[in-house]
Amino acid sequence: MTDGDRGRDESEAVPQDGSRRKFMVVGAGVVGACVAGITIVPAASILTHPLRVPTTSGSDAFIPVGRLAQFKGDKPVKVDLYSDKVDAWNRVVQVKVGSAWVQQRDGQLVAMSTVCPHLGCAIDYDAENDKFLCPCHDSYFSRAGEVETGPSPRGMDSLELQTEDEQVAIRYQRFKQGTEDKEPV
Ligand code: FES
Repeated sequence: MTDGDRGRDESEAVPQDGSRRKFMVVGAGVVGACVAGITIVPAASILTHPLRVPTTSGSDAFIPVGRLAQFKGDKPVKVDLYSDKVDAWNRVVQVKVGSAWVQQRDGQLVAMSTVCPHLGCAIDYDAENDKFLCPCHDSYFSRAGEVETGPSPRGMDSLELQTEDEQVAIRYQRFKQGTEDKEPV
């Protein structure tokens, strides 16, 4: 073998070694990615599972507030609504979600939110004047919930109420404040 032949063999061997090294690096990368995928994908799936299924309860459900007999009088009755709160990873039992005024109107039981549509203060019942009153900025509402005086841009927000087997339940919702229209939030 001449010096020229030896030189040509050595120079041909370099790209072969380089290709093998590159192949091994790429192969190791692919294997590593597969292993990482096998581990990460199921783990991420488990961790994010609560975010992909509807687990929040309370806001859409009808919440029992008492027996029908409790609301037979001619004065409004204030009820507090409690519900289990379930978010992605936590479950908190019986959290107060809000309050409502329940009363008879034209022979029917109705419910109105205690949240003032102006800026969200709690609306009281003024028994002396037989009206609802928000003490924050003196908005007065009639027994039907209509604005009589004050800055509230709309009447008190009605809530869905249902009676089943003498049990009264309310679907609690919150609405935008400071707007003329009643828009759920
Ligand atoms: S928050 Fe009720 S009148 Fe302002």
